[in-house]
Amino acid sequence: MATINDNYLKLPGSYLFAEIARRVAAFKEANPDADIIRLGIGDVTQPLPPACIEAMHKAVDEMANADTFRGYGPEQGYSFLTEAIIEHNYKARGIEIGTDEIFISDGSKSDCGNIQEIFGEDNKVAITDPVYPVYLDTNVMAGRTGTLNEDGHFEGVTYLPCDASNNFAPELPQERVDMIYLCCPNNPTGTTLSREELTKWVNYAKENESVILFDAAYAAYITEEDVPRSIYEIEGAKDVAIEFRSFSKTAGFTGTRCGYTIIPKTVKGRAKDGSLVEFNKLWNRRHTTKFNGTAYIVQRGAAAIYTEEGQKQVKETIAYYMENARIIREGLQAAGIEAYGGVNAPYIWLKTPNDMPSWDFFDKLLTEVNIVGTPGAGFGPCGEGYFRLTAFGNRENTVRAVERIKNKLHF
Ligand code: MLT
Repeated sequence: MATINDNYLKLPGSYLFAEIARRVAAFKEANPDADIIRLGIGDVTQPLPPACIEAMHKAVDEMANADTFRGYGPEQGYSFLTEAIIEHNYKARGIEIGTDEIFISDGSKSDCGNIQEIFGEDNKVAITDPVYPVYLDTNVMAGRTGTLNEDGHFEGVTYLPCDASNNFAPELPQERVDMIYLCCPNNPTGTTLSREELTKWVNYAKENESVILFDAAYAAYITEEDVPRSIYEIEGAKDVAIEFRSFSKTAGFTGTRCGYTIIPKTVKGRAKDGSLVEFNKLWNRRHTTKFNGTAYIVQRGAAAIYTEEGQKQVKETIAYYMENARIIREGLQAAGIEAYGGVNAPYIWLKTPNDMPSWDFFDKLLTEVNIVGTPGAGFGPCGEGYFRLTAFGNRENTVRAVERIKNKLHF
């Protein structure tokens, strides 16, 4: 009989957002009239920028004509998109990235999840706690961890606790690690790492021959000057860091799907025979073997955000969500609830009143005021006693949700 990948059995029953969806569906079935406001999964609500729509319509028309039709494209992405990204997101900030150091994909969740395939099985992984579950779960699936302990931690993983006592900024690990996942601006805490803090990480990675897997999916939400938009703003990072970016939260592509990964050729790992190998080469091999490129129409839409109109429209939508973030953060604070994030990120991370366990708070919020959020404990044991709300709702629902929390929720 075929055997299974037993590593999957180490994982808790379901993926965090699948579990939330299940609980909300059950509540809705039992309470069909409940007016539920969803501020749980970080899914956008505003439509795609008109510049993207226009570009995609045009691309659809091209597909209707034999002279302009496109079949398979380059797996790494069309140059009209890679060049626009490099120009706007890197060159403009003084960073040199080659067109063969960027890989367009169907979103950064896939890339963050798949990247571990090009690392050795016995690599030691460090993640923050709390953490976006994809980094951890995919390493569990790959067999890079032991089993789940009673305290909610996997054996063999280096956890970097982040809570209010360290301003949600992870400290360097005590032991040597190989792969370090950093998410900045952070999902779920909404906090960021300063230039100085990131420099510490880059130096650690250099000294320890580690690789930083830097998830910058929310980079477009940064408002403060001292927060790097890209890890490559830090000297030496091009030798030790892989960066993930996404069009999902930047331009409303959660359903349209497009993201990209930067792997500078200078980032290297050691083969069993001791030789140094470029991760770029391995990812290119993987990408061309397992992926046939992001849809042409989608890439045209993505490239349109770099036009003058596109930039203006994207900024307007981001400002809209960030105003939601302000409304939530200030509303919670006015209700006497400690709230973090929401300044450089579309997430607000709140301390549950009276130290209520996160899932209890989830149930209370859902049943008493019909609001869906995400329990902090779902992101790791250090998230216990915290709760995440997203600013991606529409304005009306965001305002209504804050009013409900302020006026109808009692402790
Ligand atoms: C989240 O809610 O954390 C995000 O939507 C997850 C994602 O981008 O995959």
